[in-house]
Amino acid sequence: MIAWWGPPVDETQLEHDHGNTIDERWSDEDAPARLWIYEVGGVPIGFGESYLIDHHTEYAERLATSNAIGVDYAIGEPAERGRGHGRRLVTLLISAGFAEHCTADKAVVVPKAANAASRATCESAGLHLVEQRPLQDEYPRGGDSAIYALSRVRFETQARLSSRSADRA
Ligand SMILES: CC(C)(COP(=O)(O)OP(=O)(O)OC[C@H]1O[C@@H](n2cnc3c(N)ncnc32)[C@H](O)[C@@H]1OP(=O)(O)O)[C@@H](O)C(=O)NCCC(=O)NCCS
Repeated sequence: MIAWWGPPVDETQLEHDHGNTIDERWSDEDAPARLWIYEVGGVPIGFGESYLIDHHTEYAERLATSNAIGVDYAIGEPAERGRGHGRRLVTLLISAGFAEHCTADKAVVVPKAANAASRATCESAGLHLVEQRPLQDEYPRGGDSAIYALSRVRFETQARLSSRSADRA
C-alpha cells in the first residue's frame, strides 16, 4: 500500500490535502473527484476515487487523452486481498465514473508498471494495456507507468454478459 500510495498522513495533513474533495466542496483550483469507501458486510476494507480526467488538465495532457474517466483504488486490509475485491472495486468505480460523466467514452487506469497486483487487477476487470512509458509526477517517482483503457461500449457489454451468466447460475 505505502509503496504505491505513499506514507500515511495525519488528520491535519489529510484535511489540508484532501478536505475539500472529501467534503465535495471543490473550488476553481481543485480538480473534482468522487471518493468512495468499499465495504464488505458493513466493514470498510477499501478505498477508491473516480473522476473525469479532463478536469485534471495537466494529467490529461501527460496522458494525451480526453473524454476519459480515471479511477484509483486500494484494498487496505491485507487479509482481504486476493479474494476478488480489487476487481469488483475497479468495476464499481468505473461504473460510477461512467454514470456520473455521461460524455466519457472510456476509462483509463494508470498503475506503475512494476505494480503487478494492480496490473493484474486492471486486466481482470477487462482493461487492456495501451502503452508503457515514464509519466511525470506519478507516485512513486521513477520507472514506467502502464496505461490501461476500456471503452464504455465494451464495459457495458461485459456488464450485460456477466449479469446474464449470473442469472443462469
Ligand atoms: C491492487 C489491489 C487493489 C488488488 O486487490 P485484490 O483484492 O488483491 O485483487 P483481486 O483479488 O480482485 O485480484 C485481481 C487479479 O489480480 C491478481 N493478483 C492479485 N494480486 C496479485 C499479485 N500480487 N501479483 C500478481 N497478480 C495478482 C489476481 O490473481 C486476480 O487475477 P484473476 O482475476 O485473473 O484471477 C491490491 O493489491 C492493493 O490494494 N494494492 C495496494 C494499492 C495499490 O497498488 N493500488 C493501485 C494503485 S494503481
